[in-house]
Amino acid sequence: MKSKIQNKFKTLFGEGGNLFASAGRINLIGEHTDYNGGYVFPGAIDKGIMAQIKLNGLNKVRAFSLDYNEMVEFGLNEEDKPKQQWACYIFGVCRETIKRGGKVAGFDTVFAGDVPLGAGLSSSAALESCFAFAINELNGNNIDKFELAKIGQSTEHNYCGVMCGIMDQFASCFGKQGCLIRLNCKTLEYKYFPFDPEAAGYKLVLIDSCVKHELASSAYNKRRASCENAAAAIRKYHPEVEFLSDAKRVWLEEVRAEIPEEDFLRAEYVIGEVQRVLDVCDALERGDYETAGEMMYQTHFGMSRLYEVSCEELDFLNKLARKMDVTGSRVMGGGFGGCTINLVKKELYEPFIATAVEKFGEKFGHKPKVIDVVISDGARKVE
Ligand code: GLA
Repeated sequence: MKSKIQNKFKTLFGEGGNLFASAGRINLIGEHTDYNGGYVFPGAIDKGIMAQIKLNGLNKVRAFSLDYNEMVEFGLNEEDKPKQQWACYIFGVCRETIKRGGKVAGFDTVFAGDVPLGAGLSSSAALESCFAFAINELNGNNIDKFELAKIGQSTEHNYCGVMCGIMDQFASCFGKQGCLIRLNCKTLEYKYFPFDPEAAGYKLVLIDSCVKHELASSAYNKRRASCENAAAAIRKYHPEVEFLSDAKRVWLEEVRAEIPEEDFLRAEYVIGEVQRVLDVCDALERGDYETAGEMMYQTHFGMSRLYEVSCEELDFLNKLARKMDVTGSRVMGGGFGGCTINLVKKELYEPFIATAVEKFGEKFGHKPKVIDVVISDGARKVE
């Protein structure tokens, strides 16, 4: 990937420039908790985005995507928003940097990625973080890493129509090799947890269903609205509830009759999920992977039945994992397609993967993709 990017850059823009990279992410547990002020537990992975970038002395950006084999040129004013979705991520990052008082000089770039698209591994956060980090460096803006993550998040909100939380961009900016990071999305306190399942006899593997359902972003925004509605109802009686994650289960019961049943179920899932993150962290500190795995199954149940963001393909993979005594398995990321994350005993890895690929193929007519997880560094300058 690196030499392809460098060669293309030379052909299009000549010598010079710097290489920057950023990562996609996994999340062990804590799904749809970020925008509810709860905990998440992600880590950056060894798949991401790489970009060669050089300031061009002009007031515009010339960006070439190797994956789309397409060149887009845009100015840096609000009305210059490009038509191509992939370019909107870069444009959004430029605009959000400017809005925060940062300088953005025009630049040329060639970039490529190896995060499978639509798998729920946050290829878009990887793209945002890579450019947020690079623009900050090249313009000497001195914006801190949290604000860089927020630049990516605001790009999703204001230029891509997804009202996401902070998890993906946080993981992509703060990721560290061999570590998961527990983030409190309300206080933004975080803690690195060294994570080495192999040493304990386990492997972490993703099975990508390779399905992506339409309208995922509007369904996502709808989930968020349900949670905010439930939190607002509880707040009437318990004013200390700023986010849904501040609410106790019994407080939710109190307002059950006042909110749509659908919102009640969404909130029930979130309140349980926030606690599960803490329980999983405790379990891992004791080296108790079996308890951590059991929590993953509980998350899957909640995401499938209460939050309703799973789908037939992911439920199938989850059920199969349970049947084969896999330690933990659940749908990962926003849902509506994408992959399951699985914690598997080493000796079960081969038979589980072989069976999952075969049975899934028989049922759905295409093979899922198997992706081994390697926890790696986040946004950085490569050279
Ligand atoms: C997407 C969003 C995140 C988070 C997850 C679900 O990845 O971008 O902010 O809400 O879904 O946990």
